[in-house]
Parts: sequence; C-alpha cells; structure tokens
Amino acid sequence: KKKKKKELALAAALGFKYFAMRLIMLLLITRWHRIFGLFPTRLRLTRKETLLKSVNNRGYAFGSALSPVELSVNESAVGVAKYARESGGLGPVRKWDNLVHLLRGSAPYIELHQNSIMVIHVSSELNDSEFQNAMNDIATLHVLGVKIVLVASVRSQVQIRLDDQEQIFVRGMRVTGSDELKAVQAEAGIARSRIEAALARGLGSSGLIGRTGGRNRVGVDVVSSNGFFVARPIGVLDGIDLGATGAVRSVESTKVLRHLDNREIVLFTPLGYSASGDTYNVRTEEIAAKAAPALRASKLIFLTDGHELVFNKQHDTSLCCRRVQSLRLDDAKRLVQYKQNLLSQQGKEKKAAAAQLIDLCDWSVKALQRGVVRAHLVPPSQGSLLQELYTRDGAGTLIASDIYEGIRTAKPEDLDSILALIAPLEQDGTLIQRPRDQLRTDIAAGCYYVIAREQLPIACAMLKRLDSHGKAAELGCLVVDSQYRNLAKGDALLSYLERVAIANKITHLFALSTRTMQWFIERGFEEVDFESLPSDRRNSYDTSRMPKIYRKTLRSDRHVDLEECFWTTRSSYEADSYSSTESLSSSSASWLFDQQQSRAISQQEKIGFNSVVPETGQNEKSAALKEDDLCGDGQVEIR
Ligand SMILES: CC(C)(COP(=O)(O)OP(=O)(O)OC[C@H]1O[C@@H](n2cnc3c(N)ncnc32)[C@H](O)[C@@H]1OP(=O)(O)O)[C@@H](O)C(=O)NCCC(=O)NCCS
Repeated sequence: KKKKKKELALAAALGFKYFAMRLIMLLLITRWHRIFGLFPTRLRLTRKETLLKSVNNRGYAFGSALSPVELSVNESAVGVAKYARESGGLGPVRKWDNLVHLLRGSAPYIELHQNSIMVIHVSSELNDSEFQNAMNDIATLHVLGVKIVLVASVRSQVQIRLDDQEQIFVRGMRVTGSDELKAVQAEAGIARSRIEAALARGLGSSGLIGRTGGRNRVGVDVVSSNGFFVARPIGVLDGIDLGATGAVRSVESTKVLRHLDNREIVLFTPLGYSASGDTYNVRTEEIAAKAAPALRASKLIFLTDGHELVFNKQHDTSLCCRRVQSLRLDDAKRLVQYKQNLLSQQGKEKKAAAAQLIDLCDWSVKALQRGVVRAHLVPPSQGSLLQELYTRDGAGTLIASDIYEGIRTAKPEDLDSILALIAPLEQDGTLIQRPRDQLRTDIAAGCYYVIAREQLPIACAMLKRLDSHGKAAELGCLVVDSQYRNLAKGDALLSYLERVAIANKITHLFALSTRTMQWFIERGFEEVDFESLPSDRRNSYDTSRMPKIYRKTLRSDRHVDLEECFWTTRSSYEADSYSSTESLSSSSASWLFDQQQSRAISQQEKIGFNSVVPETGQNEKSAALKEDDLCGDGQVEIR
C-alpha cells in the first residue's frame, strides 16, 4: 500500500513538473521580448485587448479626424432666467474651502489683471446687500491692482421718483424734460455719495479700515468729474423731441487715465455736459460701452440686475438650468438679433424681464466691435465679481471677441498652399516628410485646419485622433507663414484646436517635435516618455528622427479662455489687430467702424442671418441706421 502511495506522489510530481516546464516554455516563446526587456512595446495583444480594440474601433479609428465641431452656441437654445438670490445664483458655485487650491488657481488671474483697466457698469436694481457685496468686491479688485472705472445706473431710482408722472419713452429712451432732469440729478448725486461711502470703508468688511489699516484714512479714493466725457443731445426721434436725453460725444481718456494711474477709482454717472454748458441724461450702458474701448480697457463688465443667460430646458439635460458660460462675438450678435425679434412679438410684461439683459448683450457686442476683447455679464451674487475674474468657472457669461477669425478646416484646394507652407520645413528637418497622397487623404478627411487670409492659408495644423479609446489626439504640422510669425497666429490655431478637441471629449493632446519644444512647453505641454504615447501611435513613431513627445491635459473651455486672456493681451497680438485704435482720430475711428460693420454684415450674410431677421424695407433700414447714428457709434472721439 505504501509503495503504491509513493508511486502516485511521484507521478503527480512528474506531471506537475511537466506542466510547469511547458508553461515556462510557452511564456518564453510568447513574451520573451517583455521578459528580457528588449522592446518596450508589446508585439502581441492579449485576447481581451484584441477584443476590446475591435469593440472600440467601432467608435473611433486611430488616426481619424475629429468631428467638425460647431463651436458656436445656438441662439434658440438660450433663454434668460432670474438667478435664485438665496442660493447665490445658477452657476456652479465652488466651495471656497480649499484655500491653497483657491489661491494657486487664482494666481495666474491676479497676475493677468494687475494694472489692467476694467469698466464696471453697476445696475440700478441691486438691493442693499447686493450693492454692498459689489462694492466690497470692487475694493478687493482695487487692492489687487486693477484700475477701475465705475459707471452707476440710476434708472430704477429715477423711475420710482417719477412714479406719479407719465413717462414717455422713445425706442427705449426716456424723454428728459426739466422734471426728469431734476430727478436724474438728484439720484446721480445720491448714487455718487452711496458709492463713495461704501468704498471709503475700503476692505472694512474684513476688519481692515483704510488702505494702510490706519483709522483716519479713506479706503479707496473715488473721483467723479464733469469733464470725463462730453455729451450731445439726441434731438428729435420719430417726431418726438427727446429734450435733455443725450449721447456720448467723446471720452476724455487722457484725463481718466491720469486718475487711474493715480490709484483712484473713476466714477461716471448718467449726467453728461456739453461744451455749451448744457446738462444731459445719458444712458449709462452707452457710457460704459464707449468708455471701455476709448480707455483700451481689458474688460467691460455689466453687473446685472440678477438675470442670467441660461440654456433652455429642452436643450439642456441637467436638472437645473445651466448658465451660458461663454459666447463668441458672432454668437452674441445672433442671439441679440434673435431675442430682439422675439421680444418685439411678446407682451410688455415678459419683455421687461429679458429685454434689459439682451440690451446689455447688445452693448457688449458694440464694445467688442470697437476693440474691447472681453465683456462679462455677471449677476450680483455674493463674491460673483471675484469669482468671475479670478476663478476658472466664473460666475457669469463671458462674451469674447472673435480671435479665431479666418480659421477653418482645410479644403482639398488648399493642398498647394499647405505644401508651400510645409515644404521648406520638411527640407530643413523641422517637420517630418509627409507622403503627398497621405496629406491629400488627411485633408479630405478633415484632419487639417488653416488660418486663411483673403482665402489663402497663411498657417496650418493637423489634428488627429490618436487612440482607439477616443481620449487622445495629436497636434502636428503646425506652421505659420514666416511673414505672419509672432502675431499670435500659432496661439490662435492652438486655442481653436484645443476647443475642437475638448468638444470631442479629448483629454490629452500630444505633439511630437524635434525643434519647437520650448514653444509647446510655454503653452502648457509637458515632456513625457515614449510609454505615455498611446500604443496605437507608438507603432508609427519615427525612430530615425526621434522627436520628443509632449502632452497637454485638456481641462475645460474656461481654461482655454484663461490662456487666451494671456496671449490676446500680448503686445504683438494687439499690434496686429487693434493698433489702429491707439491713436484714433474721429475719421479713422469711423473708418474702422465701417470696416467692422461691413465685415459683420458679410458675416451675417454668410450665416443666413437674413432668414432670422424679418424683411426690412428701405425705411426700416434707414431707421436702423439712424439708431446707430444716435448711439454715436463711429462718431465718438477719443481724446
Ligand atoms: C512655432 C510657430 C508655429 C509659432 O507660431 P507664431 O504664430 O509665430 O507664434 P506666436 O505668435 O503664437 O508666439 C510667438 C512666440 O513664440 C516664440 N517662438 C516662435 N518659434 C519658437 C520656437 N521654435 N521655439 C520657441 N519659441 C518660439 C516667439 O519667440 C514668440 O515669443 P515671445 O512672444 O516671447 O516673443 C511658428 O514659429 C512656426 O511656424 N515655426 C516653424 C514650424 C514649427 O516649428 N512647427 C512646430 C512643429 S509641430
């Protein structure tokens, strides 16, 4: 019995040894390259991986183009909603619990906004606590080095004062008789005193009285003057004399800038004066929208009465309405037209609720067309101004000028121009030699983008999906014509492609480069090792050139916004786009305005704008022109 047991154990041991040897042999055959570390790549995929890949490939193909994304916002998807005062607004309000995280996140914004000029329009409809919150935020902005121009509206206070009298409005403007003018003068004085008192506390709410902490000093100096802008009468409109209702004739920017350089907050009220000594009641929105470009402000901010732009319920799957975080200039223009048409068909009650916000959008558009790069619509919730300016998510809606002008996907007829751009760089080894057939196929597939000037590409770049999971993409073949370098064209193309990638849910953007490493690193890319490259791309890595691999983690549109803030404030960018506004004489200002208007009109034609706007007859067209005229666009002088 004992002998049998021994034989059985021996057989089992031999069997085990046999199987173990087979297993080791099998591993050596199939995985020898990994066991001995000869190649970093796996030559064969496991069955599970093969299966996964084939499943994923149904969705995304390696090397395919990203879906052409409409970066614009559909105007019919946007509505207007009143923010919930008790919850502090509709937008995502971050918990301010992680101070270190918060300060680090805000640091780039603090640097960016230091010494920049911001024109802030304060709605007349803020309640006491909202007003005090706004003033506290403004005092904080002042301490953080922002040069502030405040424009205070007193519309609702004047309305209350004149409640028992019949008011006449023409095209949304109050006819200002002597009673109305007295009411505006009284309310402008009160508003000025209220603002001066609130800002005299400085950062009083934080327990620090005065700028230096001394108890005898006023916190923030506020100056107001009869000479910051010159007004002119609007005159007779639609057969009605508007009396002392005026428009901005010129902004005295030199005077204003002197005070701003002196660390004072400049205050505008609706009262404007003409050279003949007459007093006028001017719309504060107009003052803000004209002062901002005249002062070359980096931002025009409208602190609203609490209404926000939100995505309509039927277009938004989230439980609560989602705030529209950002709009491009073209989107804002279309939205204003669309809403104004809708509002003109609606009853007076509904109209009043949304019209004001749309009006602010309209003034923002006008300011952007005159050279301001960014406008913001911010509700007056606790800390909303600071949140909008110093956090990534913001608290309002940002309207940005069109920095992507001329960028589009390349067409087959662009092939020759693209070849002319890349061929010299292929010859000197900066770019990899691209087979022409491959280039043609990629262009046809929508992988190439160009910046076109007068229809001719002056820059190009390629954007391709890089892995079968759809999370990584490669940016390549980025070339700007040597005549157009250092004008932020490369930055514009990169920003645009980042937005396309984000809209396609790409989280990592790769760039392979032999000589342009510093340019990518300065734009948030970091060098990564070969293993970080998606496996699909590793197989086609060019071992003869050995380009370095850079990767950028894409976060959100607002993050791209922040980067855009930096390069759009670079002097080279300004020199390219807006240098003509620096020393604007009235004639060149109107020339610039005409150029922008005709560009805007051709843009509207391009997007089929006429189908949205009802047919206008000749008379209506001239009325529209008159309206522009009375706004003084194109006529305002900058001194
Ligand atoms: C790299 C390139 C696309 C940048 O385009 P651009 O429109 O001139 O760049 P921007 O205006 O946005 O930026 C200009 C800044 O980038 C810097 N820059 C330009 N080329 C650079 C390079 N190769 N390395 C490091 N920095 C560079 C400029 O000095 C300038 O810096 P500054 O603002 O501090 O003066 C352009 O120089 C180019 O076409 N280069 C040749 C092709 C190439 O190398 N492509 C990348 C391979 S994928």
